Amino acid sequence: MQEKPIAVVTGGAGFIGSHMTDRLLKAGYVVRVVDNLSGGRGSNLAHHSRNPDLSLDTQDICKLPANSPLFKNVQLVFHFAGIGDIVPSIEQPTEYMATNVQGTVRVLEATRHGGGRGVQRLVYAASSSCYGLAETPTREDFPIQPQYPYALSKYFGEQAVLHWGKVYGLPVNSMRIFNAYGPRVRTTGAYGAVFGVFFRQKLAGKPYTVVGDGTQSRDFVYVTDVAEAFFLAAVKGHIGEIYNIGANNPQTVLRLVELLGGETVFVPKRPGEPDCTRANIDKITQHLGWRPVVDFPSGVATMLRDIENWRDAPLWDVESIAKATQTWFEFMDPGKSS
Ligand SMILES: NC(=O)c1ccc[n+]([C@@H]2O[C@H](COP(=O)([O-])OP(=O)(O)OC[C@H]3O[C@@H](n4cnc5c(N)ncnc54)[C@H](O)[C@@H]3O)[C@@H](O)[C@H]2O)c1
Repeated sequence: MQEKPIAVVTGGAGFIGSHMTDRLLKAGYVVRVVDNLSGGRGSNLAHHSRNPDLSLDTQDICKLPANSPLFKNVQLVFHFAGIGDIVPSIEQPTEYMATNVQGTVRVLEATRHGGGRGVQRLVYAASSSCYGLAETPTREDFPIQPQYPYALSKYFGEQAVLHWGKVYGLPVNSMRIFNAYGPRVRTTGAYGAVFGVFFRQKLAGKPYTVVGDGTQSRDFVYVTDVAEAFFLAAVKGHIGEIYNIGANNPQTVLRLVELLGGETVFVPKRPGEPDCTRANIDKITQHLGWRPVVDFPSGVATMLRDIENWRDAPLWDVESIAKATQTWFEFMDPGKSS
């Protein structure tokens, strides 16, 4: 019998990485997850606990040796491991550069040495935050204007990935994800993504803390659609490419409130955040035949079925958000700080 192909998923115990793991196991890969569980959880993979094709190695990518046995004979590598909140990145830029840039270099080196000529693709989870306050719909060739260290670190990571493609001939692609949402979206840690914040508030019967006037919109893309895009970028013929992953159908924060139902309170709009994010997805559609299939109301309804999972998430209110975002106002809009 022919041996199964091997895939490594860094950050595979996290939100998107665990859905990528689902997709790869379904496609018949042996999946080796590398994750230090700093943001992810073993429970995100618990539904595969009896599957011998899945292994989880609790390792820090920053310490990954170039000759790591985990990457031996690997065909596909999906690099999701990273740290991703805005405010902590302003407070601890060194840590963000170490994990998101140096960590990426370690993954590139382990792939190059472990997989050798057998590597078919390394696909990197880049971020649309590299575009900053861009015109919309945003194309891949629009100007790069990172607004905070997280965005810069993800962009440097992308540059490293493309550089390894050029210098070492590693077959790479980089995927600039807009706003991924769906089951298992991270619930703990710093103040961040709107879903975790609102779901916890809904469970507690507290008002949703809407930023600005709530008319700002985000290009939300459902997580299984994201995993499918990564899969296609790994198995189809195009290499050395950058692709946007979004739904090209932005939704306002007020629309999310409408779908969830409940009262609102308002917190000040933050500097450096765009009023609208919207991906131009012509390139990925043309190259890979990908387009998102899960619409926003269906995606939100699926998440709501698991709302109990957000019971342990932090419960934010106007005061705690003001405190948590103090640094944001201080550094990104110095004119307004006291
Ligand atoms: N969620 C989004 O909308 C979005 C948008 C753009 C880019 N991205 C990128 O996609 C990737 C995955 O994001 P996510 O939303 O699933 O986040 P997540 O926090 O759920 O997943 C990241 C995973 O990486 C792991 N990790 C962090 N540091 C590590 C280290 N030093 N060594 C090993 N593992 C480590 C965490 O434990 C976690 O499981 C990230 O790189 C993020 O920057 C996400």
